[in-house]
Amino acid sequence: MAKVRITRAEEFSASHILYSQGLSEHENRKIFGKCANPNGHGHNYRIEVTLRGEPNSDTGMVFNLSDLKRIIREEIIDKVDHKNLNKDVDFLRGIVPTAENLAVKFYEILKAKIPENLLYEVKLIETPRNWAVYRGEVDD
Ligand code: NI
Repeated sequence: MAKVRITRAEEFSASHILYSQGLSEHENRKIFGKCANPNGHGHNYRIEVTLRGEPNSDTGMVFNLSDLKRIIREEIIDKVDHKNLNKDVDFLRGIVPTAENLAVKFYEILKAKIPENLLYEVKLIETPRNWAVYRGEVDD
């Protein structure tokens, strides 16, 4: 049977500082540049969640997109929208909130909520020019 990919996109706004506790002030500045500014800055993020599977023979759907929308909103958007990603979000505690790390965390959270191994990819777009994609460990 044909396997098809479907994608749902959602958006959120959040602030962060890119700063690693394990590095000196100077190293942080050198690596993260203006993203290490102590008072933080914001992004309008976009998350694209792609599932892959065979369309159900009765519904014609790989997965109901309104259910996917609800899962993304409840598990991710409601927890990160208008938040400070360094301080306000339990599942990001101790993690440098780069696009890479957000993509991995969001993937892991959604993986646990989306049935039948349908989750294929999470793309986390930080700016129109920067994004990160994670497909789980199989993608190594
Ligand atoms: Ni930033």
